[in-house]
Amino acid sequence: MATIFYTATSLDGFIADPHNSLDWLFQFGELEPNTFDDFLAGVGAIAMGSTTYQWIYNHDFGDAADNPQPWPYPMPAWVFTSRQLPTIAGADVRFVSGDVRPIHQEMAIAAGEKNLWIVGGGDLAGQFYDAGLLDEIVVQIASVTLGGGAPLFPRRVNPPLKLHVARTYGENFAELRYSVLPPRSPDKV
Ligand SMILES: NC(=O)c1ccc[n+]([C@@H]2O[C@H](COP(=O)([O-])OP(=O)(O)OC[C@H]3O[C@@H](n4cnc5c(N)ncnc54)[C@H](OP(=O)(O)O)[C@@H]3O)[C@@H](O)[C@H]2O)c1
Repeated sequence: MATIFYTATSLDGFIADPHNSLDWLFQFGELEPNTFDDFLAGVGAIAMGSTTYQWIYNHDFGDAADNPQPWPYPMPAWVFTSRQLPTIAGADVRFVSGDVRPIHQEMAIAAGEKNLWIVGGGDLAGQFYDAGLLDEIVVQIASVTLGGGAPLFPRRVNPPLKLHVARTYGENFAELRYSVLPPRSPDKV
């Protein structure tokens, strides 16, 4: 079981534009081939922050939904928020707040042998990283820059991530897969 931050990002390190739009990503349509379906098949629990949940809600479920869809995730989802958010019928969603460590334990129990997916945003993935609970970062880098928006991973990472795989998809995407290495002990530089 691994805890994985898997996301698309712009070349300049943003996962949504300053208006929380993903149009820059959706302009490319479905990537064929891609790793998402295989990745999702190995996931047993997911976590996301409230902006990401609200984005899904607004686009797929709210009164003004521009693209009505069923809740896309068959596995349980933990949504981090300090607020009361609207629920979605048929979605296994648990609203939580605060320290990610006890939530990670709950997620791991629910997932069994399967992986945990940190959907986003970047700071929530960073909270799992801070707690020593993030194992992998997988990014699909789109060939666009946004100049601002929701940051990919607002942390200083050291020791460096270990790059395992770099591959290209068509003319617009590169996917990089990294392992997170444990912190060096203070007596080793
Ligand atoms: N490119 C992609 O593939 C991709 C993937 C995922 C997301 N996205 C997009 O990227 C954007 C991410 O937005 P974001 O950076 O604002 O991140 P986010 O993680 O979606 O939401 C951040 C909010 O979650 C709540 N939160 C986070 N940690 C918490 C904690 N420990 N306890 C309680 N509440 C907590 C806080 O809001 P409250 O407490 O006020 O609720 C916080 O402001 C969204 O627009 C999303 O749609 C893109």
